[in-house]
Amino acid sequence: ALRASFALKAHKGAQVVQTPFQPQASYKVAVLGAAGGIGQPLALLIKMSPLVSDLHLYDIANVKGVAADLSHCNTPSQVLDFTGAAELANSLKGVDVVVIPAGVPRKPGMTRDDLFNINAGIVKNLVEAVADNCPEAFIHIISNPVNSTVPIAAEVLKKKGVYNPKKLFGVTTLDVVRANTFVAQKKNLKLIDVDVPVVGGHAGITILPLLSKTKPSVSLTDEEVEKLTVRIQNAGTEVVEAKAGAGSATLSMAYAAARFVESSLRALDGDGDVYECSYVESDLTELPFFASRVKLGRKGVEALIPSDLQGLTEYEQKALEALKPELKASIEKGIAFANKQA
Ligand code: NAD
Ligand code: LMR
Repeated sequence: ALRASFALKAHKGAQVVQTPFQPQASYKVAVLGAAGGIGQPLALLIKMSPLVSDLHLYDIANVKGVAADLSHCNTPSQVLDFTGAAELANSLKGVDVVVIPAGVPRKPGMTRDDLFNINAGIVKNLVEAVADNCPEAFIHIISNPVNSTVPIAAEVLKKKGVYNPKKLFGVTTLDVVRANTFVAQKKNLKLIDVDVPVVGGHAGITILPLLSKTKPSVSLTDEEVEKLTVRIQNAGTEVVEAKAGAGSATLSMAYAAARFVESSLRALDGDGDVYECSYVESDLTELPFFASRVKLGRKGVEALIPSDLQGLTEYEQKALEALKPELKASIEKGIAFANKQA
């Protein structure tokens, strides 16, 4: 869970009292697409992290005001704004974690793949700049379609000779956050206790919650499994329809992305007990990219966790086989795009 370790200062009488847990703020984080629906609340949540010393906000427009606003929060990090292609390189110098929520969101009736034509090029350009300016950074890709944008990023990094598969992540944390919420609600469990691994990818049936692996273990009827699985798979669409043309999930996404950033920073800081689901280069299945739980460490992915894929129920096993052709096609589409470009 996102730890309650934020550097908020509590007031006690006339005294300002620091919260007891005050790790050293020493990491630089960049958000590319920082003026957007996700970017703004995400920047706010990252600004609250005690581990961050510098927060770089990049966008093609409107980022100056966001940075001025955030910079007044009395938390440790220094906030700097960067606008437009000419300032992109500087936004990335010395950065430890780059988060990319740049690109267009869905409207009702669209699939995530319908965003490919616009977002593929955006991700390609931004990752080229990452390769040139902070090739050692953890890269968190949020821009959809994640199933294709992560393979695009990998190809770009390979072409630049700096690909490190342990440091490239598709952010699927929102699927876990949703699964945890929906299962806890269904079973009247404390939200904080529930953890559901979600594997596969991040679109429709490629999102596969492994409800049989829920911790603490829960007993669900076949009908409950079916309903919960479909709800988790369609949760993004649920928000797109509720927003009725005004975009897709931004606040829950910012929460989920902030959790993934905080986990990455804790791993960089030497915490040896950090596990998250993420869409990464993988040998757990025959597909080159696959979301699963991973152990995070100082160097990125320290280990994939294969045990989640063992002993699946018949329902999960079938769903796993069913998602593979779609995920494979999305991966191949991303790779083909990256390689057809000059
Ligand atoms: P938004 O339109 O509100 O914001 C996108 C921002 O990106 C804008 O500020 C825009 O100026 C900026 N941008 C566009 N091109 C850019 C470029 N070349 N460089 C830098 N910035 C650029 O959209 P949003 O709601 O924040 O969603 C952003 C993306 O995140 C979408 O593709 C959406 O589908 C995706 N998303 C992913 C998940 C997930 O779980 N991975 C969840 C929600 C949304
Ligand atoms: C989500 O899952 O909310 C995002 O991928 C955005 C979307 O288009 O559904």
